[in-house]
Amino acid sequence: MTFYKKYVFPYLTRYDAEKIHYKVMDVLKFVCKIPLAPSVLRFIFEKKDPRLERKVFGLRFKNPVGLAAGFDKNGVWTDELANLGFGFIEIGTVTPRAQLGNDKPRLFRLKPDEALINRMGFNNEGSTFAGRELRKRKTKVIVGGNIGKNKTTENDDAVYDYLKAFNDLYPYVDYFVVNVSSPNTPGLRALQEKEPLKYLLKVLERDNGRKSKPKPILLKIAPDLTNEQLDDIIEIVKETRISGVIATNTTISRDGLVTDRAEVEAIGAGGLSGRPLAARSTEVIRYLSEKSKKAFPIIGVGGIHSPDDAIEKLKAGASLVQIYSGFIYEGPGLVKDICNRILQDKI
Ligand code: FNR
Repeated sequence: MTFYKKYVFPYLTRYDAEKIHYKVMDVLKFVCKIPLAPSVLRFIFEKKDPRLERKVFGLRFKNPVGLAAGFDKNGVWTDELANLGFGFIEIGTVTPRAQLGNDKPRLFRLKPDEALINRMGFNNEGSTFAGRELRKRKTKVIVGGNIGKNKTTENDDAVYDYLKAFNDLYPYVDYFVVNVSSPNTPGLRALQEKEPLKYLLKVLERDNGRKSKPKPILLKIAPDLTNEQLDDIIEIVKETRISGVIATNTTISRDGLVTDRAEVEAIGAGGLSGRPLAARSTEVIRYLSEKSKKAFPIIGVGGIHSPDDAIEKLKAGASLVQIYSGFIYEGPGLVKDICNRILQDKI
């Protein structure tokens, strides 16, 4: 058992999950201001090896392990997180206008399942703020901008929200993610249906094509889609010529949990992430990869808590992986552990 898992995680879980998130990041931000501390962190957590480099959708990643969206909603910690060895960091989801998100509490731990349930509801400071924050960043780590619509925006007008967030972040991110798969914004997932999705992605790609240097646009999908819906996704990706897919977001399913049922029910609505999501998200990756005959790159995310879990996603067809819940439960050492295993297994 790692030091983190034995001592740090149990200590952190004495506190409210959302509050401790900010406290820990305050501490990391403070530590990173101490001279030499960033170098020490990198010495501990970063695995440097040219064999880990990946070229995916035209970008060069120094390693294939990224931080998933939702951790740094406003792009305020990218420099600090880069010191923990990530190959890339996805910020957001960012909406055009600032919004508070849902009422608290809205983030819950399911410890027996090594899972989380969240119904944050895209709490963020808006795309102008995130752009300003990212402009200040010093490290060159690859940053993705995950964009969404505001809660009060009707689905018929959603395209304008995505366009504004896209344009505000455009100068400051390396790739974009269109998030239509969060379960916590009412009606959002209806945008995953064939026609609205095709329209949204076409409009974004048209705007992107007018830029001097178009940036890769990816689509993030839910694990709750049927095979028929996944077939539609493959067709849409090919037709709109977006650069790839992120599979998957959190699930609305509560199947297979070992946490007491009454406890889960008391938590209520939200997206489930962590270990119980691993098998389904790998299944989605494998289906997309096989059915499309590897027509586009996939970033695999969902329940990666160990190097084995990451290897499984890569073998199923993912070009890169991301972690969130595994980072919380296992600690930052997980990034280097995965990198070491990739080198060992020559994947
Ligand atoms: C998320 N996730 C997420 N995804 C997204 O596209 N936009 C977002 O704003 C958020 N917010 C968010 C908050 C919290 C608290 C969690 C736990 C997750 C989903 C995340 O990026 C990832 O897709 C899933 O959590 C599955 O990966 P893990 O957590 O099982 O590694």
